[in-house]
Amino acid sequence: MSEARSYPRIVATDVGDIEFRLMSRADEAAVLAFARALPSHDLLFLPRNISEPKVLSAWIAEIERGQITSLLAIKGGEVVGCSAVVRDPHSWSPHVGEIRMVVSPGVRGQGVGRALSQETFALALAAGLEKLTVQMTVDQRGAIALFESLGFRAEGLLRDQVRDVDGKTHDIVVFGHDVARVRAQLEAYGVPGAVGD
Ligand SMILES: CC(C)(COP(=O)(O)OP(=O)(O)OC[C@H]1O[C@@H](n2cnc3c(N)ncnc32)[C@H](O)[C@@H]1OP(=O)(O)O)[C@@H](O)C(=O)NCCC(=O)NCCS
Repeated sequence: MSEARSYPRIVATDVGDIEFRLMSRADEAAVLAFARALPSHDLLFLPRNISEPKVLSAWIAEIERGQITSLLAIKGGEVVGCSAVVRDPHSWSPHVGEIRMVVSPGVRGQGVGRALSQETFALALAAGLEKLTVQMTVDQRGAIALFESLGFRAEGLLRDQVRDVDGKTHDIVVFGHDVARVRAQLEAYGVPGAVGD
């Protein structure tokens, strides 16, 4: 999936230059430290808890199998964000990719999330995906604002879908983006390659 875009890339944000590069097994310890420093509530949108070494190792195995492409956002040698495009080419949804993303609380609100989401979106489009989804707990206002601004629209609400460490349940909202249709509309207006190329 990543061959269509080259890394590393440096992007200027309000918190300084951020390097984006693909995640690999060599990043395991740094990503574990990043995940363990996150509030556990911020991990509820993920199917599994990535602050568990076993879960992280399985994630890296999926990267190695090509089912997940993950980007890291690095500032001063430290992981401050990560994202993933998850797809299952053997399912009935080979054209769909799920985007997952989280940024360190210490650098939020300074453009890292926007830059990472745009890069992840571009990566998914370059891979030829036609529809993208993203999901989060309904109280993640930053995430909802960010993905709505990228053209995602709410498609579903899963009530009491996740249970946090204190036993409290939370609703999950699922957003979708029909990138193939947007691309076709733009091309009809004479804007070829306007989405993500
Ligand atoms: C979503 C998340 C990645 C955003 O990261 P970030 O670095 O704070 O994002 P940015 O600073 O680039 O802000 C992105 C946009 O969202 C908006 N935004 C950020 N936080 C917001 C908030 N609390 N309320 C409303 N809007 C907010 C900003 O206004 C910004 O828009 P702009 O670029 O037009 O100014 C981060 O909040 C996060 O990691 N959340 C927890 C994980 C999660 O729920 N992920 C969702 C699943 S993909």
